[in-house]
Amino acid sequence: MPEYAQTVGRQIPVDAKSFQDTLGLFCTGVTVVSGITQHGPVGFTCQSLVSLSVDPPLVSISVSRNSRSWPEIERTPSRAFCVNILSASQSDLCARFARQGIARFSGVRWFPAPESGAPVLQGVQAWIEAEIADIYPGGDHSIVTGRVTCLEAHPDREPLIYYRSTLFPAKK
Ligand SMILES: Cc1cc2nc3c(=O)[nH]c(=O)nc-3n(C[C@H](O)[C@H](O)[C@H](O)COP(=O)(O)O)c2cc1C
Repeated sequence: MPEYAQTVGRQIPVDAKSFQDTLGLFCTGVTVVSGITQHGPVGFTCQSLVSLSVDPPLVSISVSRNSRSWPEIERTPSRAFCVNILSASQSDLCARFARQGIARFSGVRWFPAPESGAPVLQGVQAWIEAEIADIYPGGDHSIVTGRVTCLEAHPDREPLIYYRSTLFPAKK
């Protein structure tokens, strides 16, 4: 018996497409997860931010086992990362930090987060600095939990939203 996903009145087998199409209906924001290594800043686009715990303050992210940036962040002496929640005007950063083979930080304005120096991108809606707490296996991803050490919010700025593989507001 195959496993089934339920969609608008239809049951379809659970394959990669039906999984992504279905989970893509859960709209999220978009972040850039960053860290500072001895060779400079690293970061990658990350949608899987979860507000995990208030006391103690914990966040979680899911990181692909294929990620190149994450192992570098994990190896830093501070074992810290910064989650940059992108604002509506930052769809270009979403694309840039998902691309391979480019200098992602070239021309990007950032300042160091207070505890670890991990990059805070200029103009984000909020940033959350965290120290790695635990890492759990999660299929083709790892579930990383981080203890929040510092954060800053700009609720006056509009969010960038990711829904059905599309960014909103759409780029003009
Ligand atoms: C909107 C969006 C959301 C993404 N979310 C995640 C995520 O939650 N976890 C992840 O590991 N990769 C995510 N990615 C993919 C990575 O950003 C992409 O594979 C990137 O090239 C990884 O860079 P790295 O190899 O330097 O770590 C996302 C990409 C996009 C465009």
